[in-house]
Amino acid sequence: MTITPLPRLAQTPSDGASLDPQDWTQLRAQAHRMLDDMLDYVAQIRERPVWAPMPQEVRDHFRAGIPAEPTPLQEVHREFMEYVLPYAGGNVHPGFMGWVQGGGTVTGMLAEMLAGGLNANLGGRDHAPIEVERQMVAWVRQLFGFPESASGLFVTGTSMANLLAVLVARTSRLGKAGRHRGIGQLGGQLRAYASNGVHGCIAQAMDLAGFGSGALRLVPVDAASRMEVAALRAMIAHDRAAGLQPFLVIGSAGTVDVGAIDDLKSIAAACQQENLWFHVDGAYGALGMLSPAVAPRLDGIGDADSIAFDFHKWGQVPYDAGFLMVKDGDQHYETFASPAAYLRREARGMAAGSPWPCDFGPDLSRGFRALKAWFTLKVHGADAIGATITRSCELARYLEQRIRDEPALELLAPAQLNIVCFRYRAGDRANADIVTALQEAGIAAPSTTMLDGKLAIRAALFNHRTRQEDLDALLDGVLRLGAEWTRKSLSVV
Ligand SMILES: Cc1ncc(COP(=O)(O)O)c(C=O)c1O
Repeated sequence: MTITPLPRLAQTPSDGASLDPQDWTQLRAQAHRMLDDMLDYVAQIRERPVWAPMPQEVRDHFRAGIPAEPTPLQEVHREFMEYVLPYAGGNVHPGFMGWVQGGGTVTGMLAEMLAGGLNANLGGRDHAPIEVERQMVAWVRQLFGFPESASGLFVTGTSMANLLAVLVARTSRLGKAGRHRGIGQLGGQLRAYASNGVHGCIAQAMDLAGFGSGALRLVPVDAASRMEVAALRAMIAHDRAAGLQPFLVIGSAGTVDVGAIDDLKSIAAACQQENLWFHVDGAYGALGMLSPAVAPRLDGIGDADSIAFDFHKWGQVPYDAGFLMVKDGDQHYETFASPAAYLRREARGMAAGSPWPCDFGPDLSRGFRALKAWFTLKVHGADAIGATITRSCELARYLEQRIRDEPALELLAPAQLNIVCFRYRAGDRANADIVTALQEAGIAAPSTTMLDGKLAIRAALFNHRTRQEDLDALLDGVLRLGAEWTRKSLSVV
């Protein structure tokens, strides 16, 4: 028998065999420059505008086609410094107060670099990065007083964690067979309940889970924007009488608009009596457990069947770092585990360590999000994170008082946590223009929302770098721009 010799494969980088650098010394020097640039960026963030609109030339820079030829690393880094960094979203800056965004930390940034170097895939198998994620799950269990049998998982953000929670609740009601059969006739009768201040991703989760967003009932709120639990009970009774099947109640621990925390204890009691799944959307509020000032207001959160929250909001971990915790780990597993021959488990070797994280969510390939959260908690300590949470609530009260003291401003919702909604005493158009002008001038970056039919300037204080002087700059800007707007509108008349 004649054996055909195998073709010779390229061996060296210059033959294209590997993407590793050819000159490690040069690469190391460049890598240090890149690290220094990012450290400078964070250290000197106050000297920059909060946000800068992108000139057309910058946008155009990103329209070129896929590069076939190589570009030196230092050149691409230069492009990043010129075209990307100055036009980032602004949430590292202490003047950023829009939407619900954390400021990140240098610790988390460095952990991201380490995670990138390991290039770990946390879908499964037996390796130390998964033990880091398991330790994070254990810490979260401890935080909420959940039992050993509770399971947890890092995901992108709370929108995803809420979706996964709705899917676990679905399995709890329809059984594992529902995964094959679909929601069927019974699924069509299931109903979920949340306050009318709930985040929009809950309706979307109901839609994506196959129930339709119309299967979510919105419960009225009281004067403090908390779910009326008596109304919840009445709606459940009404739906049962109509032949429908209530199965899930979502409590909010920090609503997106005004930071209201539902009466979690009473909702938990209602769910227990009615045999309903109790999920908490604690996107940012759940980590209030770390703050002695906020934790008592979360009473009842430990009674939840599942909790969704983000480390990237009040936890200051860099994006993205969402988390889902489920009290009944078996239900969680039953909802997602999908055995396959190529994912066979063993007692020893790399395929050991079952169950794997991929058994608790839809992602098979998963990055090492846990590392930046683990570093953040270890390096700073949970108490320091809790202290920044407490301080952001104190800052919100300072802002609230300044607004109350200023006749040209109107407080639209009292600061329940760290969110303050107010407006310049003028119409919606004026307030929307004021917010845009503040952002474009790089002075401060609040966002807007609608409260009782009025457009509100919404300052959500999540950044651990924010100080009183940043709030003074916000109000000075609002007052000056508001006066200018009024003057201009009067001169047009
Ligand atoms: C109360 C609440 N729920 C859910 C979300 C969605 O979280 P994420 O943006 O991490 O998906 C947010 C975001 O601000 C929120 O405030």
